[in-house]
Amino acid sequence: MTAGIAPAIFVTGGAGFIGSALIRLLIAESDWTIVNIDKLTYAGNLESLFDAAKSPRHVFSRTDICNRPALDALFACHRPCGVIHLAAESHVDRSIHGPGDFIATNIAGTYALLEAARGYWSGLDDAGKAAFRFHHVSTDEVFGSLGSEGSFDETTAYDPRSPYSASKAASDHLVRAWRHTYGLPTLVTNCSNNYGPCQFPEKLIPLMILNALAGRPLPIYGKGDNVRDWLYVDDHARALKLVFERGAPGATYCIGGHNEKTNLEVVDLLCAHLDRLRPRAGGGSYVALKTFVADRPGHDRRYAIDAGKIERELGWRPQETFESGIEKTVRWYLDNPDWVVRVQSGAYRQWLEANYGNRP
Ligand code: NAD
Ligand code: TYD
Repeated sequence: MTAGIAPAIFVTGGAGFIGSALIRLLIAESDWTIVNIDKLTYAGNLESLFDAAKSPRHVFSRTDICNRPALDALFACHRPCGVIHLAAESHVDRSIHGPGDFIATNIAGTYALLEAARGYWSGLDDAGKAAFRFHHVSTDEVFGSLGSEGSFDETTAYDPRSPYSASKAASDHLVRAWRHTYGLPTLVTNCSNNYGPCQFPEKLIPLMILNALAGRPLPIYGKGDNVRDWLYVDDHARALKLVFERGAPGATYCIGGHNEKTNLEVVDLLCAHLDRLRPRAGGGSYVALKTFVADRPGHDRRYAIDAGKIERELGWRPQETFESGIEKTVRWYLDNPDWVVRVQSGAYRQWLEANYGNRP
């Protein structure tokens, strides 16, 4: 490594919801140069990086993780000491209507990234090889659906049910196979549902906040009694940094916030905060906008994570409660109308045209 130059790590998907939170944290609380590798799909928004984008330690590369020659060139150029891999197609409803991109990015893209990493890693000296980490960021949805009791942990058998979760399960298996077969020092984390600033408004929480503010219906699938285990995105980012720095090579860590809520409970809480912080112009509560709609096909009933291992072994604890995190999130969407308007109008993609013209 050249003296005076901060060592590089790769973060894929760093323009997305969780990747941008992670990069903001790593710029503030580490010395690494972050090479942010992102294709900038509809979900990629460099504006979510805020001041972190201006840091000399942030290097952006608009690259598709399926493009092996481009990945090889990035490894040769930046010589990273690790990869934190978040790039993915991430929305279950989109995976139901069009699974192809999920297979391409989540499975074939992870395969291309693993092979590029392995090619580079094989050429390192022994110390470089031992220090290198390939950290794959995954979801609790790979474990399938729970009944009313129990929770997922690192020993739970895989049972994915949606095209999204099946594609993430496949990528988790590939990562573990590269560890067992080739010795690549991998880490896998499986996290529960995230929420917080800069989440694309197709997911439950930002969709409900922004629909409510616009006076539009709040579409609740089925009876609204499906359960998710919510974690504030900055708590997830802190867990990822900790696992990348201190996790045991080959290990898996489940990450969750001990915040099981039905979708109805979430929507009611959001409406209560909005009633207080931004009362409806015509009076009355936002709950009047709740609308029950047809259920999602194959809708997983309940997710819950036992995060005991990362708590015991690495000392991680979430800093936000659900109540504090939800209030912060509602306030963030109220206080950042520019971000919201540019996402809703598509203006956040003007950067692409300015820098890349019409090229894909
Ligand atoms: P996101 O959809 O907000 O962001 C995904 C990012 O990946 C975007 O910036 C997009 O441009 C980029 N991307 C997509 N395809 C790409 C490709 N082929 N090449 C390069 N970049 C590409 O997703 P998110 O919610 O931030 O999730 C990040 C990761 O965390 C995903 O792997 C997801 O499976 C996992 N995860 C998400 C949650 C959650 O609740 N959101 C929970 C657990 C795990
Ligand atoms: P979502 O945010 O899409 O995350 P995931 O499917 O990965 O858990 O959905 C969270 C829950 O909210 C899930 O049970 C589906 C439900 N949901 C609705 O009821 N209405 C909606 O409009 C959306 C997007 C989700």
